[in-house]
Amino acid sequence: MTKKLYIKTHGCQMNEYDSAKINEIMTSEKDFTLVNKESEADLLVLNTCSIREKAQERVFHQIGRWRKLKEKNPQLKIAIGGCVASQEGEQIKRRASEVDIIFGPQTLHRLPHMYEKNLNTDKSQIDIEFPKLEKFNHMSKPQHGEPSAFVSVMEGCNKYCSFCVVPHTRGHEVSRSVEDIINEVKILVDKGTSEIHFLGQNVNNFKGHYKGEKSSLAELIKITAQISEVKRIRFTTSHPYEFKEDLVNVYYEVPELVSHVHLPIQSGSNRILKLMRRRYTVEKYLLLVEKLKKARPEMRFSSDFIIGFPSEGKNDFLATMEVINEVKFDESYSFIYSPRPNTPAANMEDNVSLEIKKERLNILQDRLNQISYSYRRRMVGLSEKILVTGFSKKDPGKLQGRTICNKVVNFPSDAIDLVGQLVNIRINEALPNSLRGEIET
Ligand code: SAH
Ligand code: F3S
Repeated sequence: MTKKLYIKTHGCQMNEYDSAKINEIMTSEKDFTLVNKESEADLLVLNTCSIREKAQERVFHQIGRWRKLKEKNPQLKIAIGGCVASQEGEQIKRRASEVDIIFGPQTLHRLPHMYEKNLNTDKSQIDIEFPKLEKFNHMSKPQHGEPSAFVSVMEGCNKYCSFCVVPHTRGHEVSRSVEDIINEVKILVDKGTSEIHFLGQNVNNFKGHYKGEKSSLAELIKITAQISEVKRIRFTTSHPYEFKEDLVNVYYEVPELVSHVHLPIQSGSNRILKLMRRRYTVEKYLLLVEKLKKARPEMRFSSDFIIGFPSEGKNDFLATMEVINEVKFDESYSFIYSPRPNTPAANMEDNVSLEIKKERLNILQDRLNQISYSYRRRMVGLSEKILVTGFSKKDPGKLQGRTICNKVVNFPSDAIDLVGQLVNIRINEALPNSLRGEIET
């Protein structure tokens, strides 16, 4: 009999991609169907994030809620995957004995086997190894072609920034082969995908092979752009240190590549960047921004910022504000620093109060919002080619899409056949988080 699977996803786009793969593998190998009600499920999967302490604590709150469902239905199985599972392993079981399966980001393809073993033995299963590319070799094929689809091209990270837990939870960098990636892209476009979004923790350090030779993200993008159904290409997340000349040049050559790059700077202070072990200076970062703007004058940049890194003083913070004003970042992510286990920064002395950190975060976020809003306001009256991604979540009478610079636009239409198409839209209103427009006639 078909069983029911419920998946909850915390964290980054990589986790969203992994959750889609968990769904594909459990539905194709184990006769599960995905449901959107926890109370109906036979198997509950939580794909976790450990980037900050708060994210980690959410895991145990969630398990606490699921414990109640298990009390009502003792047959119910609970599986914990993702970065908290990878980092905590057995500890999860000690803190929450109702968990049946613990798997890591690199062992999600083994979930069908672990589930079966748990059913047969009633013993909890744990497997948080890092078996390199095995995961990708065992993935089932995509079953749906969303208008914009993620494709993971590399996993893990070797950078060991002093604040970051990712190298510990996702392991070292491994890249898929270009052939393997292109196969996935072709399946997706056959199922209706128009935009390919390449993913990796350091996607620009992609080092896959193509026809037996070493390849690069630049080459992968050029090969992908030759597939006629691919209308747009984007990639995240890039590390400024490895953004090489050949990748800058792709912006001249490949019009399918969007005019938006997520390039996390983290801080505008060279002293803090050094403590963070980021391997670049503000000056080098700005030089890269200039090169990219030369290749694409309309290029927009977004970033991640960490506020309140240990010892961050007023001048360090002001330097970050200065970089924001210089680059004019559009739509960024910013968080207060959170000490993570086994990272060097967790042992650094921190003399800044939480109150000051919160104040700085507010100032920074206000400025970022102001800049994003002014970009939007300047777009009113313009005609933009947008890729239609589906119905607007807040207003089902409207379709939604993105401009080449990654701005969300809603426009009145119920023409579902426009989903996945590029449509010319005249922008007529700028809102704080989106734009409104109309189809050009
Ligand atoms: N590879 C990417 C970052 C991936 S982690 C890069 O090179 O920038 C995503 C973001 O989480 C980071 O950019 C950082 O801003 C944030 N982050 C990571 N560790 C953090 C911590 N300990 N506290 C607060 N934010 C953190
Ligand atoms: Fe983390 Fe730095 Fe890698 S932020 S993911 S260790 S590049």
